Amino acid sequence: MRYTPLFALIGLLSVTSANPILHPRATPTTTNRTTTSSTAPCAAVSSAHYAPSNKDGTVPAQLAYECLKSVPLNVTAAKRLMGEIRPYINWQTNIVFLKNPPAEYVQKIQQPVDILAGLDKIEAQIDSGAFFGEYDFGLALYKLILSAHDGHFSIVLDSVGNFFNFDRKFPLVSVSEDGVKLPAVFVYGDVLGQQFNTISGAYTPSAVVKIDGQDAATFLENWSQWGILQDRDALYNNLFYELAQVSVGSYGTGTGTFSGGGRGRWAYPGANTTYTFANGTSKTVENIAYPMFNLDGIDSGEKLQQNFFNYDAGTANTEGKVNLHVVPGDKVAAAATGSAAGYPPTVIAGPSNIINGYYIDSPDYSSIAVLSVPNFVGDIDDNVAFQATSRNFIAQALADNKTKLIIDLSANGGGSVLQAYDLFKQLFPRPAYLPYGATRWRAHEAADLIGQSFSAAASQFPRVLDTIQFYVQEMQSTYFDYESDLDVNYKPFTSWPEKYAPRVYNGDNFTGIARYNLSDVLITLMSGGIDITGYGALASASNNPQPFKAEDIVIVYDGYCASTCSIFSELMRQQGGVKAIAMGGRPNTHPIQAVGGTKGVNNLDWETIQAFVQLGVRASSAAERQRYEDSVLGTDYNAEGPFVRTSWASDPGCNVRDGLREGDDSGTPLQFRYEEADCRLYYTPEMTVDATAIWKAAADAQWGGWGKSKCVANWWPWSKEKREVTTTLGRSRLGKRGAGASDAKALEELLKTLAIRTENQWKGDGFMKP
Ligand SMILES: *[C@@H]1O[C@H](CO)[C@@H](O)[C@H](O)[C@H]1NC(C)=O
Ligand SMILES: *[C@@H]1O[C@H](CO)[C@@H](O)[C@H](O)[C@H]1NC(C)=O
Ligand SMILES: *[C@@H]1O[C@H](CO)[C@@H](O)[C@H](O)[C@H]1NC(C)=O
Ligand SMILES: *[C@@H]1O[C@H](CO)[C@@H](O)[C@H](O)[C@H]1NC(C)=O
Ligand SMILES: *[C@@H]1O[C@H](CO)[C@@H](O)[C@H](O)[C@H]1NC(C)=O
Ligand SMILES: *[C@@H]1O[C@H](CO)[C@@H](O)[C@H](O)[C@H]1NC(C)=O
Ligand SMILES: *[C@@H]1O[C@H](CO)[C@@H](O)[C@H](O)[C@H]1NC(C)=O
Ligand SMILES: *[C@@H]1O[C@H](CO)[C@@H](O)[C@H](O)[C@H]1NC(C)=O
Repeated sequence: MRYTPLFALIGLLSVTSANPILHPRATPTTTNRTTTSSTAPCAAVSSAHYAPSNKDGTVPAQLAYECLKSVPLNVTAAKRLMGEIRPYINWQTNIVFLKNPPAEYVQKIQQPVDILAGLDKIEAQIDSGAFFGEYDFGLALYKLILSAHDGHFSIVLDSVGNFFNFDRKFPLVSVSEDGVKLPAVFVYGDVLGQQFNTISGAYTPSAVVKIDGQDAATFLENWSQWGILQDRDALYNNLFYELAQVSVGSYGTGTGTFSGGGRGRWAYPGANTTYTFANGTSKTVENIAYPMFNLDGIDSGEKLQQNFFNYDAGTANTEGKVNLHVVPGDKVAAAATGSAAGYPPTVIAGPSNIINGYYIDSPDYSSIAVLSVPNFVGDIDDNVAFQATSRNFIAQALADNKTKLIIDLSANGGGSVLQAYDLFKQLFPRPAYLPYGATRWRAHEAADLIGQSFSAAASQFPRVLDTIQFYVQEMQSTYFDYESDLDVNYKPFTSWPEKYAPRVYNGDNFTGIARYNLSDVLITLMSGGIDITGYGALASASNNPQPFKAEDIVIVYDGYCASTCSIFSELMRQQGGVKAIAMGGRPNTHPIQAVGGTKGVNNLDWETIQAFVQLGVRASSAAERQRYEDSVLGTDYNAEGPFVRTSWASDPGCNVRDGLREGDDSGTPLQFRYEEADCRLYYTPEMTVDATAIWKAAADAQWGGWGKSKCVANWWPWSKEKREVTTTLGRSRLGKRGAGASDAKALEELLKTLAIRTENQWKGDGFMKP
């Protein structure tokens, strides 16, 4: 047998590592489990999972898929559920824009999609018997909502999210050998081997030119649509292994959607994947699935259905939904604070690895500070520390004579909305930089009624921070109290009808524009604990000098930026005038967008919508109570189906606020605008093992001048010339000097990250769930 180090390298993991994290197993081996002689696919899965020789509990992907497919459809329950989700769909702001988007969106971003017609079609398919089982039904609904490519809009039913996560064993990367040649796809293990000299000349890493017999880039572009982003270059990047994503551990998209990270975990990859390399060789590898439930005694699809589908909410075991989640020893949590694989030591470390300050350890880049921000806070307890990190780091960088700042937003799917405003204000403290941040909701009956009720109830109490009644605070700190927020001119509203003020764009109804009142006495309730720099308790900060000139700041993107990250970007680019560098993208020389994830500015889980609805009824006066009880608030939001039939792995949610550009009267949400970055850089092999390499290239592009910039498009006219294509990776970062102890440690850290599995637990009011 021929020695193939690329696969051996990764195989090494399971042999040498005693780390239990690397050995996911759904349940401990039980000696008294029920045995079965059934040949049903679910029985085969169970046997495969419990086989004594099975070290990590994974099962062949095809078996898992067949098991899922064998769960029969409960037609009654499916029909009922389809009715129960409709009221929540009303909250999705861009239903009509998705159906009838601007031409440039269709040309460059995504196809139109008619969600309501899609729901009708699924109902008709249930009636006509088009779905054999729960999985066909669940997948049809999942794919319909996914096709909106709005990262805030998501419905993952039990059948899709609760049972198996699919995986291709080998993560890929797309890299240009030197940052100039067109990028090509490589197995990440090959890049590691080449960068860390472990291949020792046994072979030359060769590009993947075909996958399952199809041109690799074509296959991958198509596969990338399983991702949640809207931008096609961002989706392409998200297929691959990326340091920033793995730096946030199981909260990120792991090793990429191609290898089962992020939304890739719910995409069946087929039984095998066949890779064909530029050097003419090929290799077929079996795909796997991680069971996420207790397989003991599961000998058929019917048994799985009986044990794990909550059809009779309230009567059946609602806790089953919780018990179900027996797993995961299968995740690597975010790396310890301030020590992510592939990153240098921190200068200032923030909480949970979501914000860190770095310098670049090289005399050529000694004037540069790097603020890496892969998340805008997904755990409410991190809000205060997050703000303190940037504040302390900026002060430290200035004290250390740094004159330039790179902000790296790679992997940033958002978090707490007001952190975006705060970070912008830390960098642009003068009052003249009043954040615009215009937002609006979809105008529909339930939203109007909640606004009427909250506004009437809340205005009976003073707007003060120390209100005793929790529900009063709750109402006063939402959009639905007219005294929250300011109008488009940063002036208070005088009534709910004035704030609601529906108007028509693209044939749909929307509320008037609202902007956050950054001095609101309740701002700490809305922000999760912080005042905004320059306002309220931090008003004096508006006298601070601006720490860096706009041209001395540059932002680095991997396209994943979404939600709160898109809010921050809009402020920095439109109001701050800061330039954006977009990394990676498809293998071409075109300009690409920087922000590739949802530009909706507020998500709401359906559970929160339901809570608002219920509070709307309960907060109404005795005289009004009946009117509310008889309205949609009283009738349409009581069902438990939308909660007990959706996956514990991802709460259903909607985008409830559109972001709007200052000075744009067309009413087009930012989500539907195509906006190129100022510079595009290809990833190089080095950048996939060392984040510093990304920052050096960004610094060269922004401040290095003609000689150093490798911007692919936009900046230099010659950049559109025909380029050579990367086919092999001939050069090693370490060259002939060989791997030292620190490199061995770096390699070990990187290898560990290959076991990361996506399991989102972060929340936020502006967050795209992976
Ligand atoms: C296995 O047997 C033990 C002891 O009888 C019992 O406590 C446990 O619940 C059983 N496990 C399963 C999965 O049935
Ligand atoms: C199908 O769902 C209904 C509730 O809609 C439930 O009463 C019934 O028991 C379910 N059938 C099966 C076979 O689980
Ligand atoms: C061809 O390239 C692949 C991928 O890098 C590698 O695994 C294999 O060893 C190479 N084969 C030869 C003969 O070089
Ligand atoms: C693209 O992906 C879809 C599934 O998302 C699949 O049905 C289709 O066959 C793929 N097309 C090609 C050309 O591979
Ligand atoms: C998948 O690969 C395995 C061995 O690698 C092979 O036995 C099996 O036939 C393949 N299955 C398909 C559907 O190609
Ligand atoms: C920063 O620059 C000042 C003035 O040139 C110098 O005195 C000081 O030592 C420098 N500080 C550091 C940390 O380099
Ligand atoms: C918009 O509002 C008008 C007036 O209330 C209503 O007739 C119409 O159906 C609404 N449009 C949509 C798309 O809901
Ligand atoms: C914002 O709210 C504060 C206190 O809640 C209030 O004093 C201030 O006037 C408001 N800002 C504007 C511009 O109305």
